[in-house]
Amino acid sequence: MNQTPDLFAPTPALREPIDDGAWLLRGFALDQADHLLEAIQQVAAQAAFRHQVTPGGHTMSAAMSSCGLLGWVTDRYGYRYGSRDPLTDQPWPEMPPILRQLAVEAAEASDYAHFEPDACLINRYETGAKMGLHQDKDEEDMDAPIVSVSLGAPIRFLFGGLARTDKAEGWKLEHGDVVVWGGPSRLFFHGVAPLGKRAEHPATGAMRYNLTFRKVRA
Ligand code: SIN
Ligand code: FE2
Repeated sequence: MNQTPDLFAPTPALREPIDDGAWLLRGFALDQADHLLEAIQQVAAQAAFRHQVTPGGHTMSAAMSSCGLLGWVTDRYGYRYGSRDPLTDQPWPEMPPILRQLAVEAAEASDYAHFEPDACLINRYETGAKMGLHQDKDEEDMDAPIVSVSLGAPIRFLFGGLARTDKAEGWKLEHGDVVVWGGPSRLFFHGVAPLGKRAEHPATGAMRYNLTFRKVRA
């Protein structure tokens, strides 16, 4: 009875292992992509994309916004999650249900059940923008995974190990791809190479958007 392979096995069949506890779900968000991009524009109408400054005084090349209970903020004083947009002093826009739903489903397809994201960071990359290798470690809840959704122009995603100097492997992320990491790889260094000069997608032109869903509060 159990010998017959399930030809209609759902999403897990589509996932590619990246590392321990880390998966690439190619095209997982493709069906929803147009709606996700609309939802991003709605968030950005309330909480505009901005280039934040790191504590070291470096202006980040990726423009950012956030939605959900908490948003990720960096300034001269440090990195943190806060419940208000410092630009407007208003609460961050609600996380659109379509975004939340996709994140929960991607987590589930990666064997992370009951994911309840309370923050979604939205990155917008223009030509040349990048994200250096870093760990997502400002969250209190390290049991929950990170769910990362790519929309628009393709980019090279780098996924390393627990030490900054661990060799990072490169993965091309395209429109609709989702990466999920957690468990043993929850704190692995990762980033993206500069968005290429010719990188584009009909839905976004030369831009790439990335959504990262996190559970911050334990
Ligand atoms: C991030 O780690 O915050 C962004 C990664 C990405 O843009 O794919
Ligand atoms: Fe990150």
